[in-house]
Amino acid sequence: MDQAFRALLDRWKGVKGSVIPLLQQAQDLLGYLPEEAMRDIAVATGRSPAEICGVATFYAQFRFKPMGRHNLKVCHGTACHVQGADGLDTVLETKFSMRTGDTTADGEFTVEKVACLGCCSLAPVVMLDGEVYGRLTGDKLAKIVSGVRERV
Ligand code: FES
Repeated sequence: MDQAFRALLDRWKGVKGSVIPLLQQAQDLLGYLPEEAMRDIAVATGRSPAEICGVATFYAQFRFKPMGRHNLKVCHGTACHVQGADGLDTVLETKFSMRTGDTTADGEFTVEKVACLGCCSLAPVVMLDGEVYGRLTGDKLAKIVSGVRERV
């Protein structure tokens, strides 16, 4: 077990109400919540692994697979939804085998669905590695993703 993770478990051991902050901090530290880490959290908090898994899977903030090298957030807020965000998901899935909430098999991309990126006038919008791309069409998005893939 990672020494920093061990220290984290020790810090929260026996503390009431520690499950959520422990899961958050474990994810910050490890990048995601591996099954083994959730088992260790169960031991540290005196809960069953099933309870910890139940809590973690309830909240959208927790990830159970490592993040890809590139993070692609597809906005599904109202403005982006109306302007065709679902169509962007379709392009990602059909052309690049990228599914929302998942990391590609090669570990390059993680695709997330987000509520609003705060630039609704540019809808539909995605954010790729922190950079916003707006007024997208499926073709424009495909070019952007292909460009990143070619650099890989
Ligand atoms: S709804 Fe997509 S940026 Fe606001």
